[in-house]
Amino acid sequence: MEDALFKRRILVAVTGGIAAYKAAELVRLLVKTGGEVRVAMTAGAQKFITPLTLQTLSQHPVATDTFDLQQEATISHIELADWAELFVVAPATANALAQLGQGLANDLFSTIALACRAPQLLAPAMNVNMWQHPATQANLALLVERGAFAVGPEAGDLACGWVGAGRMAEPSAILQACRALLGPRDLDGKKFLITAGPTHEALDPVRFLSNRSSGKMGFALARQALRRGAQVTLIAGPTELFAPGNVERVDVVTAEEMRKNALERAPLADAVIMAAAVGDYRAAKVAPQKIKKSDDRLAIELERNPDILAELGKKDFARRPLLVGFAAETEEVETRAARKLQEKHCDLIVANDVSQTDAGFGVDTNRVLLVDNERTTALPFGSKDEVAGGILDWVAAHLSTRL
Ligand code: PMT
Repeated sequence: MEDALFKRRILVAVTGGIAAYKAAELVRLLVKTGGEVRVAMTAGAQKFITPLTLQTLSQHPVATDTFDLQQEATISHIELADWAELFVVAPATANALAQLGQGLANDLFSTIALACRAPQLLAPAMNVNMWQHPATQANLALLVERGAFAVGPEAGDLACGWVGAGRMAEPSAILQACRALLGPRDLDGKKFLITAGPTHEALDPVRFLSNRSSGKMGFALARQALRRGAQVTLIAGPTELFAPGNVERVDVVTAEEMRKNALERAPLADAVIMAAAVGDYRAAKVAPQKIKKSDDRLAIELERNPDILAELGKKDFARRPLLVGFAAETEEVETRAARKLQEKHCDLIVANDVSQTDAGFGVDTNRVLLVDNERTTALPFGSKDEVAGGILDWVAAHLSTRL
């Protein structure tokens, strides 16, 4: 089968960080898959890797200077921006993210970026403190909100000697993200309702019951569904994550708020995917004042929250959406998922073993089983975006068989 990148026009912008050397491998992989690749480099990037290396690998001259007559005569920076079907910034330094966020056009890279209408894929790479700086986070949040996609960074040993998040995603992961971005728009026009994150159930004015869900799995599903052409409504419990601007985001706090919004919106959806970790219990009575620590023991009476997914499963819809639930299990994963499939009347249960350190709550990766009425399929271990892609393949295939 033809690779999703075959003959696709990919512009790789290399900005000035030590990870620039990895851009060589990325360009090599993109060319190997049959992509047409052009490269632009900032002055900083050229201190780390030469244009000649990237010219040799991409088989095309590398753009380095807006005001170079020779380069502008061959292919102008505007032509390059118009030519691209995908604009990849790898590595994307803190400075590059700031330039993009502010809409600067003070060098060739930022000028192309401003002129380019192609989807933008950012692979941030920098020192952990630079990455965690609120300015960098705000710049990335703004870019994602405007529609950019981000891959990485990963955590680990950094070239600067620090250990933490900031290492550029591996070229193979960036290649996968490129494939995903240029892949089929097989969910064009379909309406998706996705839930994500935890819920907070108040105990008193300052305390609540919750769980370790970060929202990453649900947000990855929203991103990938959007990329494949779907109209996405994302009901999000409390989380720090940012969603693309063209996702309709509904922020909620409690299970009851999530339920109300889900029941209201589900009849309009083609598919409902419940990735949220909804609190099963809430306080029977929320204390109006802060609970005092007077006794050694404290008993708080809890009552069951409504099960939103089960309620949707039982509902009489004029046109039933495809119903996808998750199962967070620590034992007998497949058996319990199969039971949830029946009990909650779902079309699919995505089961994750949340006792594993690299899957489930909080982490960037997941390992899931797709349990439907006919079979159980294990998806390959991968980033939550990759796993989301696998889940959406199942949904796309089943939506296509419906009238
Ligand atoms: O958010 P992350 O950090 O990325 O972590 C991802 C995840 C582990 C939260 C996600 O992959 C996941 O497993 N989500 C479902 C968690 C959960 O609540 O599982 P459950 O087995 O308790 O619930 C089964 C299904 O019923 C879920 O689809 C859940 O959304 C739904 N449910 C549960 C309780 C309730 N009161 N109402 C519900 O609708």
